[in-house]
Amino acid sequence: MGGTGVGEPEPTLDKSLLPDASERPEVRVIATGGTIASTEEAAEDGGYARSEGAEQIVGAVPILEEFVDISYESVANKGSSSLLVEDYVNVAKAAMRAEVDGVDGVIVTHGTDAIEEDAFFNDLVLDLDIPVAFVGAMRAGDSVSADGPRNLLSAVRMCTRSEFHLSDEPSGVYVVLNEQIHAARDVTKTHTTKLETFDSGPAGPIGVFTDNELMLYREPGSYTANLSNYDLDAAPEMVVPIVATGAGAEAYVTEQAAAGEYDVDAIVIQATGWWGGTAPDVSGPTGDALDAGIPVARSTRVHWGPMNPGYDDDREGDIVVMEDLPSWKARLQVILALTMTENHPGYDDDLEMIRETATESKYALDVVAPSTV
Ligand code: SIN
Repeated sequence: MGGTGVGEPEPTLDKSLLPDASERPEVRVIATGGTIASTEEAAEDGGYARSEGAEQIVGAVPILEEFVDISYESVANKGSSSLLVEDYVNVAKAAMRAEVDGVDGVIVTHGTDAIEEDAFFNDLVLDLDIPVAFVGAMRAGDSVSADGPRNLLSAVRMCTRSEFHLSDEPSGVYVVLNEQIHAARDVTKTHTTKLETFDSGPAGPIGVFTDNELMLYREPGSYTANLSNYDLDAAPEMVVPIVATGAGAEAYVTEQAAAGEYDVDAIVIQATGWWGGTAPDVSGPTGDALDAGIPVARSTRVHWGPMNPGYDDDREGDIVVMEDLPSWKARLQVILALTMTENHPGYDDDLEMIRETATESKYALDVVAPSTV
Protein backbone atom coordinates (compact mmCIF):
# COMPACT_ATOMS: atom_id res chain seq x y z
CA MET A 1 0.00 0.00 0.00
CA GLY A 2 2.95 2.36 0.51
CA GLY A 3 5.16 3.89 -2.23
CA THR A 4 7.80 1.69 -3.83
CA GLY A 5 10.70 4.01 -3.02
CA VAL A 6 11.71 7.64 -2.51
CA GLY A 7 10.32 9.82 -5.29
CA GLU A 8 8.28 7.03 -6.86
CA PRO A 9 4.53 7.45 -7.18
CA GLU A 10 2.15 5.61 -4.82
CA PRO A 11 0.96 2.47 -6.61
CA THR A 12 -2.76 2.49 -7.22
CA LEU A 13 -4.87 -0.21 -5.63
CA ASP A 14 -5.51 -3.10 -8.03
CA LYS A 15 -9.27 -3.29 -7.59
CA SER A 16 -9.49 -6.61 -9.42
CA LEU A 17 -7.85 -8.19 -6.35
CA LEU A 18 -10.43 -6.87 -3.92
CA PRO A 19 -13.18 -9.08 -2.51
CA ASP A 20 -16.53 -8.77 -4.21
CA ALA A 21 -18.82 -6.46 -2.21
CA SER A 22 -21.10 -9.40 -1.35
CA GLU A 23 -18.16 -11.37 0.13
CA ARG A 24 -16.54 -8.66 2.16
CA PRO A 25 -16.13 -9.36 5.88
CA GLU A 26 -17.96 -7.09 8.29
CA VAL A 27 -16.46 -5.70 11.47
CA ARG A 28 -18.32 -3.84 14.21
CA VAL A 29 -16.53 -0.83 15.69
CA ILE A 30 -17.59 -0.15 19.28
CA ALA A 31 -16.48 3.29 20.45
CA THR A 32 -15.71 4.21 24.08
CA GLY A 33 -13.56 7.38 23.78
CA GLY A 34 -9.86 7.85 24.60
CA THR A 35 -7.01 9.53 22.74
CA ILE A 36 -7.87 7.60 19.58
CA ALA A 37 -11.06 9.69 19.51
CA SER A 38 -9.19 12.98 20.16
CA THR A 39 -7.68 15.77 18.12
CA GLU A 40 -5.33 18.63 18.98
CA GLU A 41 -7.59 20.96 17.05
CA ALA A 42 -10.43 20.32 19.47
CA ALA A 43 -8.39 21.32 22.54
CA GLU A 44 -8.97 24.87 23.71
CA ASP A 45 -5.69 25.37 25.55
CA GLY A 46 -3.08 22.93 24.27
CA GLY A 47 -3.02 19.14 24.45
CA TYR A 48 -5.90 17.35 22.83
CA ALA A 49 -9.58 16.69 23.47
CA ARG A 50 -12.11 14.04 22.48
CA SER A 51 -13.87 15.13 19.30
CA GLU A 52 -14.19 12.11 16.98
CA GLY A 53 -16.98 9.56 16.79
CA ALA A 54 -16.39 6.00 15.60
CA GLU A 55 -17.08 6.93 11.97
CA GLN A 56 -14.53 9.76 12.01
CA ILE A 57 -11.92 7.44 13.55
CA VAL A 58 -12.49 4.91 10.77
CA GLY A 59 -12.60 7.73 8.20
CA ALA A 60 -8.89 8.33 8.87
CA VAL A 61 -8.16 4.99 7.14
CA PRO A 62 -10.08 5.29 3.83
CA ILE A 63 -8.50 2.11 2.43
CA LEU A 64 -10.55 0.05 4.91
CA GLU A 65 -13.72 0.68 2.93
CA GLU A 66 -12.23 -1.28 0.05
CA PHE A 67 -11.80 -4.43 2.14
CA VAL A 68 -14.45 -4.60 4.86
CA ASP A 69 -17.93 -3.43 5.67
CA ILE A 70 -18.06 -1.57 8.93
CA SER A 71 -20.94 -1.06 11.31
CA TYR A 72 -20.85 1.10 14.42
CA GLU A 73 -22.01 1.28 18.00
CA SER A 74 -21.02 3.85 20.59
CA VAL A 75 -21.19 2.80 24.25
CA ALA A 76 -19.28 5.67 25.90
CA ASN A 77 -17.27 8.79 25.19
CA LYS A 78 -14.82 9.03 28.07
CA GLY A 79 -11.19 8.96 29.00
CA SER A 80 -10.56 5.34 29.92
CA SER A 81 -9.76 6.04 33.58
CA SER A 82 -13.32 7.39 33.92
CA LEU A 83 -14.94 4.23 32.55
CA LEU A 84 -16.94 2.28 35.14
CA VAL A 85 -17.49 -1.47 35.47
CA GLU A 86 -20.92 -0.66 34.05
CA ASP A 87 -19.21 0.60 30.87
CA TYR A 88 -17.17 -2.62 30.63
CA VAL A 89 -20.45 -4.54 30.92
CA ASN A 90 -21.91 -2.44 28.11
CA VAL A 91 -18.91 -3.22 25.89
CA ALA A 92 -19.40 -6.96 26.58
CA LYS A 93 -23.10 -6.75 25.73
CA ALA A 94 -22.34 -4.81 22.52
CA ALA A 95 -19.79 -7.47 21.49
CA MET A 96 -22.35 -10.23 22.13
CA ARG A 97 -24.90 -8.31 19.99
CA ALA A 98 -22.32 -7.97 17.21
CA GLU A 99 -21.82 -11.75 17.12
CA VAL A 100 -25.59 -12.30 16.98
CA ASP A 101 -25.71 -9.83 14.05
CA GLY A 102 -23.26 -12.06 12.19
CA VAL A 103 -20.23 -9.78 11.97
CA ASP A 104 -16.75 -11.28 11.56
CA GLY A 105 -14.94 -9.36 14.26
CA VAL A 106 -15.30 -6.63 16.88
CA ILE A 107 -13.02 -3.64 17.31
CA VAL A 108 -13.32 -1.60 20.51
CA THR A 109 -11.76 1.86 20.27
CA HIS A 110 -10.52 2.79 23.73
CA GLY A 111 -8.24 5.00 25.81
CA THR A 112 -4.92 3.30 26.45
CA ASP A 113 -4.70 4.03 30.19
CA ALA A 114 -7.23 1.36 31.19
CA ILE A 115 -7.44 -0.60 27.92
CA GLU A 116 -5.91 -3.69 29.54
CA GLU A 117 -8.59 -3.68 32.27
CA ASP A 118 -11.58 -3.50 29.93
CA ALA A 119 -9.99 -6.07 27.59
CA PHE A 120 -9.29 -8.42 30.52
CA PHE A 121 -12.85 -8.05 31.88
CA ASN A 122 -14.26 -8.84 28.44
CA ASP A 123 -11.94 -11.82 27.99
CA LEU A 124 -13.23 -13.24 31.28
CA VAL A 125 -16.84 -13.09 30.14
CA LEU A 126 -16.94 -13.41 26.34
CA ASP A 127 -17.13 -16.79 24.65
CA LEU A 128 -17.54 -15.77 21.02
CA ASP A 129 -16.73 -17.38 17.68
CA ILE A 130 -15.33 -14.03 16.55
CA PRO A 131 -12.29 -12.14 17.90
CA VAL A 132 -12.48 -8.87 19.83
CA ALA A 133 -9.63 -6.38 19.33
CA PHE A 134 -9.20 -3.42 21.68
CA VAL A 135 -7.45 -0.56 19.89
CA GLY A 136 -6.15 2.76 21.19
CA ALA A 137 -3.68 5.45 20.28
CA MET A 138 -0.88 7.19 22.13
CA ARG A 139 -1.19 10.27 19.92
CA ALA A 140 -4.17 12.40 18.93
CA GLY A 141 -5.71 11.79 15.50
CA ASP A 142 -4.32 14.97 13.92
CA SER A 143 -0.85 14.90 15.52
CA VAL A 144 2.33 14.24 13.49
CA SER A 145 2.70 10.45 13.03
CA ALA A 146 -0.64 9.67 14.62
CA ASP A 147 -0.71 5.98 15.52
CA GLY A 148 -4.48 5.42 15.79
CA PRO A 149 -5.12 4.83 12.05
CA ARG A 150 -2.32 2.27 11.81
CA ASN A 151 -3.54 0.48 14.95
CA LEU A 152 -7.05 0.34 13.52
CA LEU A 153 -5.72 -1.14 10.29
CA SER A 154 -3.84 -3.80 12.30
CA ALA A 155 -7.02 -4.67 14.20
CA VAL A 156 -8.98 -5.13 10.96
CA ARG A 157 -6.18 -7.31 9.59
CA MET A 158 -6.35 -9.43 12.75
CA CYS A 159 -10.14 -9.71 12.86
CA THR A 160 -10.38 -10.90 9.25
CA ARG A 161 -7.86 -13.75 9.67
CA SER A 162 -9.14 -17.28 10.14
CA GLU A 163 -6.57 -18.05 12.91
CA PHE A 164 -8.54 -15.75 15.22
CA HIS A 165 -11.92 -17.40 14.62
CA LEU A 166 -12.19 -20.35 16.99
CA SER A 167 -15.40 -22.32 17.27
CA ASP A 168 -14.53 -24.88 19.98
CA GLU A 169 -13.12 -22.35 22.46
CA PRO A 170 -13.46 -18.57 22.92
CA SER A 171 -11.86 -16.67 20.05
CA GLY A 172 -10.24 -14.36 22.57
CA VAL A 173 -9.89 -10.68 23.39
CA TYR A 174 -6.74 -8.83 22.36
CA VAL A 175 -5.08 -5.45 22.66
CA VAL A 176 -3.71 -4.35 19.29
CA LEU A 177 -1.26 -1.46 19.18
CA ASN A 178 2.12 -0.66 17.67
CA GLU A 179 1.82 -3.53 15.17
CA GLN A 180 1.52 -6.12 17.94
CA ILE A 181 -1.31 -8.36 19.09
CA HIS A 182 -1.36 -8.97 22.85
CA ALA A 183 -3.49 -11.37 24.90
CA ALA A 184 -5.77 -9.41 27.24
CA ARG A 185 -4.54 -11.41 30.21
CA ASP A 186 -0.86 -10.62 29.80
CA VAL A 187 -0.67 -7.13 28.40
CA THR A 188 0.17 -4.08 30.47
CA LYS A 189 0.98 -0.45 29.76
CA THR A 190 4.61 0.12 30.71
CA HIS A 191 5.34 3.73 29.70
CA THR A 192 3.15 6.80 29.99
CA THR A 193 3.99 8.29 26.57
CA LYS A 194 5.95 5.95 24.28
CA LEU A 195 4.34 4.22 21.31
CA GLU A 196 6.02 0.95 22.32
CA THR A 197 4.35 1.00 25.71
CA PHE A 198 2.34 -2.26 25.59
CA ASP A 199 4.19 -5.34 26.76
CA SER A 200 3.18 -8.89 27.63
CA GLY A 201 6.28 -9.65 29.72
CA PRO A 202 7.64 -13.19 29.65
CA ALA A 203 4.58 -14.48 27.75
CA GLY A 204 5.27 -12.17 24.80
CA PRO A 205 2.82 -10.94 22.17
CA ILE A 206 0.54 -13.35 20.32
CA GLY A 207 1.68 -11.91 17.02
CA VAL A 208 3.55 -9.11 15.28
CA PHE A 209 2.61 -7.53 11.95
CA THR A 210 5.05 -6.81 9.19
CA ASP A 211 3.87 -4.82 6.16
CA ASN A 212 2.48 -7.93 4.46
CA GLU A 213 2.50 -10.69 7.03
CA LEU A 214 1.55 -11.62 10.53
CA MET A 215 4.18 -13.46 12.55
CA LEU A 216 2.30 -15.63 15.04
CA TYR A 217 4.34 -16.40 18.17
CA ARG A 218 1.64 -17.96 20.33
CA GLU A 219 -1.67 -19.68 19.74
CA PRO A 220 -4.53 -17.23 19.37
CA GLY A 221 -7.32 -17.67 21.91
CA SER A 222 -8.21 -16.67 25.42
CA TYR A 223 -5.58 -16.96 28.16
CA THR A 224 -7.89 -16.01 31.03
CA ALA A 225 -10.16 -18.13 33.19
CA ASN A 226 -13.28 -18.09 31.01
CA LEU A 227 -16.03 -17.65 33.53
CA SER A 228 -19.57 -18.93 33.33
CA ASN A 229 -22.76 -18.24 35.27
CA TYR A 230 -21.63 -14.73 36.10
CA ASP A 231 -24.22 -11.98 36.42
CA LEU A 232 -23.14 -9.01 34.32
CA ASP A 233 -25.83 -6.74 35.73
CA ALA A 234 -24.69 -7.43 39.31
CA ALA A 235 -21.01 -6.69 38.61
CA PRO A 236 -21.22 -2.87 38.85
CA GLU A 237 -22.76 -3.19 42.33
CA MET A 238 -19.75 -4.97 43.85
CA VAL A 239 -17.55 -2.94 46.22
CA VAL A 240 -13.97 -4.25 46.06
CA PRO A 241 -11.25 -1.82 47.20
CA ILE A 242 -7.56 -2.33 46.44
CA VAL A 243 -5.30 -1.93 49.49
CA ALA A 244 -1.62 -1.32 48.69
CA THR A 245 1.39 -2.08 50.88
CA GLY A 246 4.52 0.07 51.34
CA ALA A 247 7.02 0.73 54.12
CA GLY A 248 4.96 1.47 57.22
CA ALA A 249 1.74 1.58 55.19
CA GLU A 250 -1.57 1.42 57.01
CA ALA A 251 -4.85 -0.09 55.85
CA TYR A 252 -7.59 2.20 57.11
CA VAL A 253 -10.04 0.86 54.54
CA THR A 254 -9.47 -2.73 55.73
CA GLU A 255 -9.81 -1.66 59.38
CA GLN A 256 -13.12 0.06 58.64
CA ALA A 257 -14.39 -2.93 56.68
CA ALA A 258 -13.38 -5.40 59.43
CA ALA A 259 -15.12 -3.20 62.01
CA GLY A 260 -18.31 -3.16 59.95
CA GLU A 261 -18.01 0.60 59.31
CA TYR A 262 -17.49 0.22 55.54
CA ASP A 263 -19.54 -2.27 53.58
CA VAL A 264 -17.30 -4.16 51.13
CA ASP A 265 -17.86 -7.37 49.19
CA ALA A 266 -14.17 -8.32 49.11
CA ILE A 267 -10.71 -6.75 49.38
CA VAL A 268 -7.75 -7.08 46.99
CA ILE A 269 -4.33 -6.63 48.58
CA GLN A 270 -1.52 -5.32 46.38
CA ALA A 271 1.39 -7.07 48.10
CA THR A 272 5.11 -7.34 47.38
CA GLY A 273 6.85 -10.26 45.58
CA TRP A 274 6.77 -14.07 45.50
CA TRP A 275 5.92 -14.29 49.22
CA GLY A 276 3.27 -11.61 48.98
CA GLY A 277 4.32 -9.90 52.18
CA THR A 278 2.68 -6.72 53.43
CA ALA A 279 3.53 -4.07 56.06
CA PRO A 280 2.53 -5.01 59.63
CA ASP A 281 -0.30 -2.51 59.71
CA VAL A 282 -1.67 -3.96 56.48
CA SER A 283 -1.30 -7.62 57.56
CA GLY A 284 -3.03 -7.17 60.93
CA PRO A 285 -6.27 -5.69 59.62
CA THR A 286 -6.24 -8.24 56.76
CA GLY A 287 -6.55 -11.02 59.35
CA ASP A 288 -9.35 -9.09 61.07
CA ALA A 289 -11.19 -8.77 57.75
CA LEU A 290 -10.92 -12.53 57.16
CA ASP A 291 -12.21 -13.13 60.70
CA ALA A 292 -15.14 -10.86 59.88
CA GLY A 293 -15.97 -13.07 56.86
CA ILE A 294 -14.72 -10.68 54.18
CA PRO A 295 -13.04 -12.49 51.24
CA VAL A 296 -9.48 -11.30 50.64
CA ALA A 297 -7.45 -11.85 47.46
CA ARG A 298 -3.78 -11.10 47.04
CA SER A 299 -1.93 -9.83 43.96
CA THR A 300 1.66 -8.72 43.50
CA ARG A 301 2.96 -5.24 42.77
CA VAL A 302 5.89 -6.81 40.87
CA HIS A 303 5.48 -6.44 37.10
CA TRP A 304 5.93 -10.05 36.08
CA GLY A 305 5.87 -13.48 37.69
CA PRO A 306 3.48 -15.43 39.90
CA MET A 307 3.13 -15.40 43.68
CA ASN A 308 3.71 -18.37 45.97
CA PRO A 309 0.30 -20.04 46.00
CA GLY A 310 0.72 -21.56 49.47
CA TYR A 311 2.22 -18.85 51.65
CA ASP A 312 -0.10 -16.77 53.70
CA ASP A 313 1.52 -15.49 56.92
CA ASP A 314 -0.27 -17.27 59.74
CA ARG A 315 -3.46 -17.45 57.67
CA GLU A 316 -2.21 -20.02 55.17
CA GLY A 317 -4.97 -21.12 52.86
CA ASP A 318 -7.36 -18.28 53.68
CA ILE A 319 -6.32 -15.54 51.28
CA VAL A 320 -6.81 -16.29 47.58
CA VAL A 321 -3.55 -15.83 45.67
CA MET A 322 -4.30 -14.37 42.22
CA GLU A 323 -1.32 -15.89 40.41
CA ASP A 324 0.53 -13.27 38.34
CA LEU A 325 -2.35 -10.83 37.90
CA PRO A 326 -1.77 -7.18 38.79
CA SER A 327 -4.20 -5.83 41.38
CA TRP A 328 -6.37 -3.96 38.83
CA LYS A 329 -7.00 -7.15 36.85
CA ALA A 330 -7.31 -9.33 39.97
CA ARG A 331 -10.00 -6.94 41.25
CA LEU A 332 -12.11 -7.39 38.10
CA GLN A 333 -11.87 -11.17 38.37
CA VAL A 334 -12.90 -11.00 42.02
CA ILE A 335 -15.87 -8.76 41.11
CA LEU A 336 -17.11 -11.28 38.53
CA ALA A 337 -16.51 -14.25 40.86
CA LEU A 338 -18.66 -12.56 43.51
CA THR A 339 -21.57 -12.51 41.04
CA MET A 340 -21.15 -16.25 40.40
CA THR A 341 -21.48 -17.78 43.86
CA GLU A 342 -25.23 -18.16 43.97
CA ASN A 343 -25.38 -19.49 40.39
CA HIS A 344 -22.87 -22.30 41.06
CA PRO A 345 -24.26 -25.31 42.87
CA GLY A 346 -21.79 -26.44 45.50
CA TYR A 347 -20.38 -22.96 46.15
CA ASP A 348 -22.09 -21.09 48.93
CA ASP A 349 -18.97 -19.21 49.87
CA ASP A 350 -17.58 -16.20 47.97
CA LEU A 351 -14.01 -16.89 49.08
CA GLU A 352 -14.08 -20.40 47.58
CA MET A 353 -15.73 -19.13 44.41
CA ILE A 354 -12.95 -16.56 43.98
CA ARG A 355 -10.37 -19.30 44.64
CA GLU A 356 -11.97 -21.51 42.00
CA THR A 357 -11.68 -18.79 39.33
CA ALA A 358 -8.05 -18.12 40.29
CA THR A 359 -6.98 -21.63 39.37
CA GLU A 360 -8.87 -21.99 36.10
CA SER A 361 -6.77 -20.09 33.59
CA LYS A 362 -4.32 -21.61 31.12
CA TYR A 363 -1.46 -20.44 33.32
CA ALA A 364 -2.88 -21.78 36.58
CA LEU A 365 0.00 -22.66 38.88
CA ASP A 366 -1.38 -26.05 39.82
CA VAL A 367 -1.43 -27.38 36.24
CA VAL A 368 2.25 -28.24 36.57
CA ALA A 369 3.46 -30.40 39.47
CA PRO A 370 5.96 -28.56 41.67
CA SER A 371 9.59 -29.46 41.05
CA THR A 372 11.25 -31.65 43.68
CA VAL A 373 14.70 -30.26 42.87
C1 SIN B 1 -7.24 7.50 28.02
O1 SIN B 1 -6.85 6.42 28.43
O2 SIN B 1 -8.44 7.73 27.82
C2 SIN B 1 -6.30 8.64 27.78
C3 SIN B 1 -4.98 8.20 27.33
C4 SIN B 1 -4.99 7.45 26.03
O3 SIN B 1 -5.98 7.15 25.40
O4 SIN B 1 -3.86 7.15 25.58
